[in-house]
Amino acid sequence: MKKDSNEKAKQIDSLKKKLKAKQKEINKLKEQNKRLKQIQKNNNELKYAFVFNDTIKESLWLKKKDFSLVNSAANYSLMYSLYRILNDAQPKNILELGLGQTSKATTQYANHFKDAKLTIVEGDQDWIDIFSQNLEISDNVEIVQLDIEEFEYDNTTTYRFKDFLDVAGSEKYDLIIIDGPQGFIDTDEGRQLLHYSRTNVWQLIPDNIADEFIILMDDCERKGETRTFNHVKELMEKNNIEFYEYKCSGLKTQRAILSEKFRYISWI
Ligand SMILES: C[S@@+](CC[C@H](N)C(=O)[O-])C[C@H]1O[C@@H](n2cnc3c(N)ncnc32)[C@H](O)[C@@H]1O
Repeated sequence: MKKDSNEKAKQIDSLKKKLKAKQKEINKLKEQNKRLKQIQKNNNELKYAFVFNDTIKESLWLKKKDFSLVNSAANYSLMYSLYRILNDAQPKNILELGLGQTSKATTQYANHFKDAKLTIVEGDQDWIDIFSQNLEISDNVEIVQLDIEEFEYDNTTTYRFKDFLDVAGSEKYDLIIIDGPQGFIDTDEGRQLLHYSRTNVWQLIPDNIADEFIILMDDCERKGETRTFNHVKELMEKNNIEFYEYKCSGLKTQRAILSEKFRYISWI
């Protein structure tokens, strides 16, 4: 009897050791997988950096090419997507949420295409004052400062631009670029991501969306932006608005929905 239980104990011990070794292997594979994903992201970003720079070389309207596409600013896949959308779709009424590197392209576009209109909404007045010095702002461009407010949705707190519909009024936007306000809050425990992020776009559906439209959302590698984007799709469906989808990834991920006329953008 004692011999049996000794044998069992030995077996259990050996199984435990094997399990531990397997767990170690799994952890190592997970780590390798994470590194591979990061390498893939870096490769994609480099690919878009080359393609973006080639694409804008002979641009008729993007003359100043002094972009600094690092850190939390726009990345290369966003700039490539945005440039192709502006150049190929030639939108007439653009709403840009979040002032920054992307605005260097949108303001030049509006400078060249005088029949287009560009509204940039930004929360931080200091950032507007500093950054506007880099931009040529023509009469068809308006930069609006709006404060940020808390907004409760689905039992979670999110942050959005306050009095947003005062700016949108009865406008019908054919391009909406969503890269603001910030998709996180700074707390004592550090940076905290939001469950839903950048939800102002929901307020625009359906009244402020043109018949033919593109809605481009940055940072969809984050769950908060992806949830917001998915709800945009739900609202479109609820309003019987047909759309197609676009996705692009470098260091960050962009997603867009497109109406029939701009469906070809999904293949750029
Ligand atoms: C993720 S940034 C993106 C803004 C823009 N679309 C771009 O391409 O850079 C969102 C917000 O961060 C803030 N921000 C961006 N760059 C900043 C900087 N260098 N310093 C301080 N705030 C910045 C601004 O309030 C901006 O609206």
